[in-house]
Amino acid sequence: MNQASRKPHSSRAADASTQGPSLAEQLVAVARALQDVRQGQSARAVLAGVDAPLRAGVQALLMDVLRVLGTAEAVRTELAARKPAAAADALLCTALALLLPDTPRYDGFTLVNQAVEAAKKRSVTRSQSNFINGCLRTFLRERDDLLGAVAADPIAKYNHPQWWLDRLKKDYPRDWQAIVAANNSQAPMALRVNLQRCSRPQYLSLLEQAGVAAVAGSGEVGIILAKAVPVEYLPHFADGWVSVQDSAAQMAAPLLLSGLLPCDGATLHVLDACAAPGGKTAHLLEFAPTPKSLDVVALEIDAKRAERIDGTLQRLGLAADVVVASADDVKTWLPVVQARHGVQQFDAILLDAPCSASGIVRRQPDVRWLRRSGDIAQLATIQRQLLDALWPLVAPGGRLLYCTCSVFREEGEDQIVRFLQTWPEAKRLAAPGHLLPQHWNAVDNSPGTLAQDHDGFYYALLHKPLR
Ligand SMILES: C[S@@+](CC[C@H](N)C(=O)[O-])C[C@H]1O[C@@H](n2cnc3c(N)ncnc32)[C@H](O)[C@@H]1O
Repeated sequence: MNQASRKPHSSRAADASTQGPSLAEQLVAVARALQDVRQGQSARAVLAGVDAPLRAGVQALLMDVLRVLGTAEAVRTELAARKPAAAADALLCTALALLLPDTPRYDGFTLVNQAVEAAKKRSVTRSQSNFINGCLRTFLRERDDLLGAVAADPIAKYNHPQWWLDRLKKDYPRDWQAIVAANNSQAPMALRVNLQRCSRPQYLSLLEQAGVAAVAGSGEVGIILAKAVPVEYLPHFADGWVSVQDSAAQMAAPLLLSGLLPCDGATLHVLDACAAPGGKTAHLLEFAPTPKSLDVVALEIDAKRAERIDGTLQRLGLAADVVVASADDVKTWLPVVQARHGVQQFDAILLDAPCSASGIVRRQPDVRWLRRSGDIAQLATIQRQLLDALWPLVAPGGRLLYCTCSVFREEGEDQIVRFLQTWPEAKRLAAPGHLLPQHWNAVDNSPGTLAQDHDGFYYALLHKPLR
C-alpha cells in the first residue's frame, strides 16, 4: 500500500517529500481510470495499465469510488447545472465519492486541496479547476442539504442503475434490498486449500504463524481472511498450497464430482467447457483422489485467457488438456479431443457460462455501471446455445453442472426451466439454485467460527439417466 492511503486524515499525504505517490497523483490516476470505465472498459483492464507503484492505491480508491458513484453523480448534478467536460467531471466525481463516507479515508480539506492539485496535473483548464474547487468546497459546507436533496433518487440511494434495481425487484421482491446492500459491501478474501498439499487446519495454523488472521469457511477447503493481503504473504502460495477463490465458486467441484469418482482405478472424463482463468479446472483436479482418476479437457474461446489456465495449473502442479475453441462449435474441437482422449462423450461437464457477473458486484463494483439492460437477453441466448450444444456430449449416467456468477433469474433458474422442457430426459439432482451475495462482516467472524460468506451464484446439476 502506498504512502497516501496509509496515512488517512494526514496532510502528509500532500507532502511531495514523503515516499510513494502523493494523493494528487493518485487522484489523477483514479479519475483517468474512472473516465475509461465510463467509456466501457473494465476496471481490471484499466488497472492493469496503471504504473506499478501507483496500482494498489489507485485500485483501492477506484473501488471506493465505483461503490458510491450513483450518489456522487447525483450530488454533482445538484452542484453543477451543466455537466463539465469528461476529464474534469471524472475528477470531480472521484473527489465527491471519496468525500461521501461518514468516516472518509482523508480529511475533507486535504482531499479538496489535492483534487485541485490533481486538476493542474490533468490538463484540466484553469476555469474547470476553479469550478472543481468551488463544487468541492460547497459540498464540504452544504453536505447534509446536498445529500438530503438526492436521497429520494433510487440510483443515488442504492448505487445501481435503475434497470438493475427493477430487475432485482422483479426477481427478488423480498430480498432485493439485501442484495443491493451486499453488493455495496466489500467481499472478504477467500482461499481454497489444496488438499493434495495440506489440510485446512494445517494451513490455518501456517496463516496464524505468518500473522494473517483467518477463519475456516464453508465447505471442506474454504478459508476466509479477516483482511485481504497480497498473495505473496500467503505461506507456500507459489508452491500451490492455496488458491484465491470465492466460497460460492468452491462449490462447483464437489457438486459435479461427488458420487461420480471411480474407485476401481478407472478414469473419469471431464469437460470444463468455459475454463479460463482455470480456478474451477484446478479445483476439479485437486478433488480427484489420484492424478489418474480424472482426465480434464479445459475449453476456452479466448486464446489469451486460455494462457492463464496453464499458469494456474502450473503453480498447482496439475495438468489438463487446454483447448482454444468455442464450446458450442462442437464439430471443430470434438473430433480432435475424442481422438486424443479416446472418448466419445464425457462423464461430467462443467458449464461455467459467460454471464452478467451480477453476483460478484462486491468484488467487481464496475460491473453494474458497465452492463446495459439489453446484455442480459444476449447472454441468456449464449448460455442457451452452450447448454443445448453440450448436453448431447454427456454420456448416459453422466452429469452436467450449469453455473453462472449471476443472480438474475434469466441467466439461472429460467434458463434451466427452459432446458428441462427442451431435454425431457434430463433429471435435476440436488444443487443450491440461486445463491445470494452475503453482506460480510469481519467482526462477526472470530477465530474458531465457521464463516458463512459467498458471492451471488447459480448452480443446477443435471443428470442423464442410463438408457
Ligand atoms: C465465468 S468465466 C469462467 C471462469 C472459470 N470457470 C474459472 O472458474 O476460473 C467464463 C469463460 O468462458 C469463456 N467463454 C465465453 N464464451 C465461450 C464459448 N463459447 N466457448 C468457450 N469459452 C467461452 C470466457 O472467455 C470466460 O473465460
